[in-house]
Amino acid sequence: MARLSIRGLHKFYGKFEALKGIDLDIAEGEFCVFVGPSGCGKSTLLRTIAGLEDVDDGAIDIDGEVVNTLRPRDRNIAMVFQNYALYPYLTVFENIAFGLRARKTPDTQVRERVGRAAEMLGITALLDRTPRQLSGGQRQRVAIGRAVVRDARLFLFDEPLSNLDAQLRDGMRAEIKRLHQEIGKTTIYVTHDQIEAMTLADRIVLMRDGLIEQQGAPLDLFERPATRFVASFLGSPQMNFMPCRLERRDGAATIVFADGRTLAFGAERSADLSAHEGRDLVIGIRPEHMSRALPDRPPAAGAAPISVLVDLVQPTGTRTYAQFRIGEVEVTVELPAHIVEHPGTTIDLLVDMTRVVLIDPKTDKVLSNGTGETG
Ligand SMILES: Nc1ncnc2c1ncn2[C@@H]1O[C@H](COP(=O)(O)OP(=O)(O)O)[C@@H](O)[C@H]1O
Ligand SMILES: [Mg+2]
Repeated sequence: MARLSIRGLHKFYGKFEALKGIDLDIAEGEFCVFVGPSGCGKSTLLRTIAGLEDVDDGAIDIDGEVVNTLRPRDRNIAMVFQNYALYPYLTVFENIAFGLRARKTPDTQVRERVGRAAEMLGITALLDRTPRQLSGGQRQRVAIGRAVVRDARLFLFDEPLSNLDAQLRDGMRAEIKRLHQEIGKTTIYVTHDQIEAMTLADRIVLMRDGLIEQQGAPLDLFERPATRFVASFLGSPQMNFMPCRLERRDGAATIVFADGRTLAFGAERSADLSAHEGRDLVIGIRPEHMSRALPDRPPAAGAAPISVLVDLVQPTGTRTYAQFRIGEVEVTVELPAHIVEHPGTTIDLLVDMTRVVLIDPKTDKVLSNGTGETG
C-alpha cells in the first residue's frame, strides 16, 4: 500500500504545457479518480506517476521517497490501460502470470497467485483459453488480473472500461469497486465519465486544462462546487444555468429573469445573499431540484413557484425529463416517470431554493452554494 504526494508538477510536450502545476496528496488505501474532459491532462498525470513520462518540474513522492528518477519497473506500480494489450498466443493463465514469470517467481507461487486472482475476478474457468476466445469484458478482467497478481503497492487504471458496451461497463465498474474493497490497495483511476467518477471515488480530482479545478469527496463536489465548470461537469442531465439579476423584493432576496419572472429565496438564504443584491448573476438549478407544484399542498419552506411552458418531453422509464425556456436558455426539469406532459402545456413548478447555486458571470466562481442536505 502506498501514499502519494505530488508537488508543483509541470509537464511540457515541446512548447505545450500539459500539466501546469499539480499539487496532490493521496492517502494509503484511497480510491482516487482523475476526471475531466478529453485532453485535460489525466493520462499525462497518471503516466508521470507510473514513470512512463518524464516531468519538467516538481516532485512525485511515494511512501516518503521521491521517485522522479526511478524507472517504471522499479516503482512497483501496476497499470491497466484502455486497450488491454494481451499476448494473443498465450493462455489466460500465462497472460496473468507473465509479470511473475519475468521476475523468476517460483512455479508454486505463480500457480497460487494466478489462481487467487482468477477466482477474485471470476475467470477460473477461462484459464486455458487464449484471448481470442474471450469477450471484451473477459479480456478486461484478464488485464486486471495481470495487474492484481503483481502485488504492486499502487494500482493505476486509465479508462479501463471505455471499450466496453454500456451494460458490461456497469458490471465491471461494480467489480472494480468490489476488488478495491477486498484488497484495499491505493488506486488511481482515470475516466472522462462523471458517473464512473461519482460511483467509484473516495476522492475526485477534477481536472481542466492541465490544472486541478477542484478535489474532494464526490458528494462534496456535487453539492458544493467551487466553479461553474465543476457544477456543470458533475450531474446528469447537467445543472441548468440562467442569467438573472438578484434584487430585494418584499424583504426577500429574489432572482429576477429578463422576462420578469421571479424566484424568491427563503429567509435564511436571503440574509446570506444581501451582499450580492443588485448584481447580474447566473443561477444554477439541477433538474432534480424542481418539482411539480401540488395544488392541494402548500409549498415547503424555501420553495419558490414558477409557471413554465413545456416544449419537449423525454421519458426514460425511471424518470421523465421535460424542457422549457427561460429567455434564451433551454431548461430541463426531472419529473416522476408517470407524469407525462404534452409539449405546449403550461405547468407549475416549485424550485428548491435551498439547493440552487449563484455564480459570478465574470469569473465563473460560485458565490453561494445550496444549504440543503442530501436526502
Ligand atoms: N506525446 C504527446 N505529445 C504531444 N502532446 C501530447 C502527448 N500526449 C498528450 N499530449 C497532449 O497533452 C494534452 C493532455 O493529454 P492527455 O493527458 O492524454 O489528456 P486526457 O488523458 O485528459 O484526455 C492534450 O492536449 C494532448 O493532445
Ligand atoms: Mg487519457
